[in-house]
Amino acid sequence: MSDLTSKGPLRLGIAGLGTVGIGAVKIVQRHADLLARRAGRPVVITAVSARNRTKDRGADLSAYAWEDDAVALAQRDDIDVFVEVMGGSDGPAKAATEAAIAAGKDVVTANKALLALHGQALAEVAEAKGVSLRFEAAVAGGIPVIKALTEGLAANAIRRVMGVMNGTCNYILTRMENAGLPYDEVFEEARQLGYLEADPTLDVGGIDAGHKLALLSAIAFGTRVSFDKVELEGIQRITIEDIRAAADMGYRIKLLGVAQMTGRGLEQRMSPCLVPADSPLGQLQGGTNMVVLEGDSVGQIVLRGAGAGEGPTASAVMGDVIDIARGFAEPVFGQPAAGLAEPVPALVTAPAPYYLRMALLDKPGALAKVAAALGDAGISIHRMRQYDHSDTSAPVLIVTHRTTGSDIAHAIERFGATGVVQGTPVAIRIEEV
Ligand code: NAP
Ligand code: HSE
Repeated sequence: MSDLTSKGPLRLGIAGLGTVGIGAVKIVQRHADLLARRAGRPVVITAVSARNRTKDRGADLSAYAWEDDAVALAQRDDIDVFVEVMGGSDGPAKAATEAAIAAGKDVVTANKALLALHGQALAEVAEAKGVSLRFEAAVAGGIPVIKALTEGLAANAIRRVMGVMNGTCNYILTRMENAGLPYDEVFEEARQLGYLEADPTLDVGGIDAGHKLALLSAIAFGTRVSFDKVELEGIQRITIEDIRAAADMGYRIKLLGVAQMTGRGLEQRMSPCLVPADSPLGQLQGGTNMVVLEGDSVGQIVLRGAGAGEGPTASAVMGDVIDIARGFAEPVFGQPAAGLAEPVPALVTAPAPYYLRMALLDKPGALAKVAAALGDAGISIHRMRQYDHSDTSAPVLIVTHRTTGSDIAHAIERFGATGVVQGTPVAIRIEEV
């Protein structure tokens, strides 16, 4: 742990000199005076590590010692804080973080994958060792949502946490709508623009955003990090037809994370949902993130900002560093990790309205048969729209009253027996925000 009594410089070892790591280096170099004033002591970089020593990274690194091995960097006597910005849920990131904690160093990381999978164990070890493990940058990049939950809203029982926490997915969905382009074309565009993770499934499969939701959920509900209990669905099946149809009914489709403690247990979902187009979430465009927090005393708080990129992510990393320099220490997830409860996952999600899109054979009684199948499944229709049709088939949209995912699944099964529904209907939950 850093020796605050000396008020000597706080010495950083930065492992990873990519987007986030170089962003942190630039802040240290650009804002040396500002950091020293706010932290109460100078903040300096002692040593760095990356794979390729000779790469030009657009920043002068000549004053810092170089380590090829991140574990060796984490164990150096001349660093107080190990900044892990390499990425990866296992391998060097995990080994070096464990080594830093064992060596008594405070750790700052931007690595949501590492914490979503190993956060519980790492937090317990860090707390037993008396060192900090901070991760503001890991969730929603530059948005200080961890601080909001652990500090500003610490006196609230949190009811619900929601958010759009993957900028790439929000870029793809809003670009599809604004340009009228199909998913595959915009996915390729996102790849060309460098928005996608090396493994794009992390983004479009909802995994990256699911990692972030699992971390928020642990803090919000005092439960052990349980990424394996997050219900995950990506945006791959969203079509331009659904985006257009949703817009026509007054909604936008978002990859939305929702975590809430219900009477049936902890609900954690990361999936495409419809939200009202005029709501803050519905208005969110491009790669921006938004997190909505609901507390029993404060009501609803909406945080919006850049979820990725050099400046925003490094801003969050350095905010954590300054807290450590100030001597500010708190449990990793806002309360002692060893006391976090094992979450009981809700087996059934809270009821909600659903959007259904299907193609009906254009013949007398077809709509009545669909309405009857919905009625038989206990589902009530709220709104319905039928569009221009070809000679034989008519596109139909239905918004239901509140129902459950399993009732919707039953209804869709019953549609098969009507003989009037063509293909597989699309069902998407409408989140009440
Ligand atoms: P990046 O640009 O790919 O950079 C990764 C860096 O880590 C590179 O400098 C790489 O070295 C280094 N590295 C990889 N393996 C290493 C190893 N075995 N030993 C030493 N160094 C190693 O990644 P990034 O975008 O900065 O992301 C870093 C972390 O921040 C990830 O956990 C990511 O999920 C998280 N994050 C990123 C963003 C964002 O906007 N980019 C936002 C939020 C969170 P070389 O350069 O030599 O290859
Ligand atoms: N791939 C992530 C995103 C990067 O698109 O939001 C930031 O975590």
